[in-house]
Amino acid sequence: MAKKNILITGGAGFIGSHVVRLFVNQYPDYQIINLDKLTYAGNPANLKDVEDKPNYRFLKADICDFEKIKEVFTTFKVTDVIHLAAESHVDRSITDPFSFAKTNVLGTLNLLQAAKESWKDAYTDKLFYHVSTDEVYGALEFDGTLFTEETRYDPHSPYSASKASSDHFVRAYHDTYGLQTIISNCSNNYGPNQFPEKLIPLFIHNIRQNKPLPVYGKGENVRDWLYVEDHARAIDLIFHKGKVGDTYNIGGFNEWKNIDLIRVIIKTVDRLLGREEGTSEKLITYVTDRAGHDLRYAIDATKIKDELGWEPSLQFEEGIEKTVQWYIENQEWLDDIASGAYQDVCGD
Ligand SMILES: NC(=O)c1ccc[n+]([C@@H]2O[C@H](COP(=O)([O-])OP(=O)(O)OC[C@H]3O[C@@H](n4cnc5c(N)ncnc54)[C@H](O)[C@@H]3O)[C@@H](O)[C@H]2O)c1
Repeated sequence: MAKKNILITGGAGFIGSHVVRLFVNQYPDYQIINLDKLTYAGNPANLKDVEDKPNYRFLKADICDFEKIKEVFTTFKVTDVIHLAAESHVDRSITDPFSFAKTNVLGTLNLLQAAKESWKDAYTDKLFYHVSTDEVYGALEFDGTLFTEETRYDPHSPYSASKASSDHFVRAYHDTYGLQTIISNCSNNYGPNQFPEKLIPLFIHNIRQNKPLPVYGKGENVRDWLYVEDHARAIDLIFHKGKVGDTYNIGGFNEWKNIDLIRVIIKTVDRLLGREEGTSEKLITYVTDRAGHDLRYAIDATKIKDELGWEPSLQFEEGIEKTVQWYIENQEWLDDIASGAYQDVCGD
C-alpha cells in the first residue's frame, strides 16, 4: 500500500475519533495527522488508546486559521484530507448561526484552498474527502421516499445550510480546479464517545440520573440511525475505492420515530441497570418542538452497497445494547465532561 500522510480534521470528536482509530490501527504505513481545535465537542480522551502509536500525531489547530493550515500541509507533506471538523449540533446552530458559517463554510474553504495551493495542481494520488450529512437534503414526508445522491439540496436549519454550502464548495473545487474530491452524506450516527448533548447519550445519561427526558413535539420525527463504527468503515472504503468526483449516501436502512427509539433506549438502560423494565418511561417529558424541525430523514444507501459492497454490520438492537453498555462502563468519561476536566489535556 502506498505511503500517505493523511490529515484528518475533527478527529477528537465523536465520528472523527472512530475514523482516526480505524486508520491508525488498520494502516501502519499511513501517517495520521489529527487536527482539531478541541472545541467543547473535542475530547482527547476519545483517542487514549492510539495516542502513543508511531503513525499518529495530534495537532491542536483551527481550520479557520488559513496560515496555520497551509503550514500544516507543508510541514507534514499532507497527501490526503478526510475532513470531519465541524460545528455539528442543530440546536446550537439555531442560537449561534455565525459560528456554523465560520467553521463549516469558511473552515472548509480554507482547507480546500490550502490543498489546492500545497498540491500545486498536481492532484494525482491526492484526495480531499469531505464528510457531510443527510440533513442537506431537507425533509421527507411519511411516504416511504428516500434521499438518493440525486436528491435536490433543501436545507432548513443553519447547521444543514452550512453543511450544504460546504458541500457546494467542495464540488466547486473539483469542477473548477480539478481537485480530486469525494463527498459522503450520512444519516444520524450513534455509539460510544458521542457528546452528551445529542439524543442517545443524553437520554442514557438522564435515565441513569432519573432526570427528565425532553422529547421535542410529540416525538413523531423520524431519523435513520447508523452505528458509528459502520460509518467509519464506510469512510475507509470510500476513501480507498470511491470514485473521484462522486457522492455516496451512507445510512442504516433503519428508520425510527423518536418516541419509539426513546422507548428502546429506556428498555435497554432499565434492563442493564437491573431496574424493572419500563420504570423510566415516567421520565418522558414532551417539550416545545425545535424550530424548523425536519419531519423525516431516510437514506437510500443502494449505491455504496452496489458499487463498494458496504452494508451496516450491526442490527439496531445490538448496536444500542453495545452503546448503552459503553456509557454505563465509562461513567468517568461522562463525569469528566460534566466537570470540564476533559478539556485540560492539550496537544501542540
Ligand atoms: N453525528 C452525526 O450523526 C453525523 C451524521 C452525518 C454527518 N456528520 C458529520 O460528521 C462530522 C463529525 O460529526 P461529529 O458528530 O463527530 O461532530 P462532533 O461535534 O462530535 O465533533 C466535531 C469535532 O470538530 C472539532 N472542531 C470544531 N470546530 C473546529 C475548528 N474550527 N477547527 C478544528 N476542529 C474543529 C471539534 O473540536 C470536534 O472534535 C461533521 O462534519 C458532521 O457534520 C455527523
